[in-house]
Amino acid sequence: MSLDRCRIIDLPRVTDPRGNLTFIEGERHIPFDIQRVYYLYDVPGGAERGGHAHRALHEFIIAISGSFDVILDDGHGKQRFHLNRSYYGLYVCPMVWRELDNFSSGSVCLVLASECYDEADYYREYQAFQAAIDVK
Ligand code: TYD
Repeated sequence: MSLDRCRIIDLPRVTDPRGNLTFIEGERHIPFDIQRVYYLYDVPGGAERGGHAHRALHEFIIAISGSFDVILDDGHGKQRFHLNRSYYGLYVCPMVWRELDNFSSGSVCLVLASECYDEADYYREYQAFQAAIDVK
């Protein structure tokens, strides 16, 4: 099941009285090479993001500031993750439907992605995603 491959990954932390530092190297700290970075910010209260799955894309989601929830669904089971620290993130493998909600005020969601943006990689209809899962 795809959901079994999704997991929280702790990142290196260099703690310092001047302020802490975390870094991420592709294929070392997360299980893919990083081709793209995007972030969600100025998310209004009550908003929901996501609502799609990817055919081949791997992603790593971090609450760089504030907090939010990520709900993962591989067509067989669902799991909700609460992200609220910048020193860990959630690895999401391909063929997993994701929704993001419960954004705190001022939160920033940073996403590292294994590929450049490609709309053809998306399932944006849950039924189409479910049908693809059922074929497998
Ligand atoms: P969307 O997938 O709906 O965002 P989310 O999953 O966070 O709710 O993307 C919103 C728009 O931004 C959509 O028109 C596609 C575009 N977009 C890009 O052009 N490049 C990107 O890397 C991403 C993630 C989205």
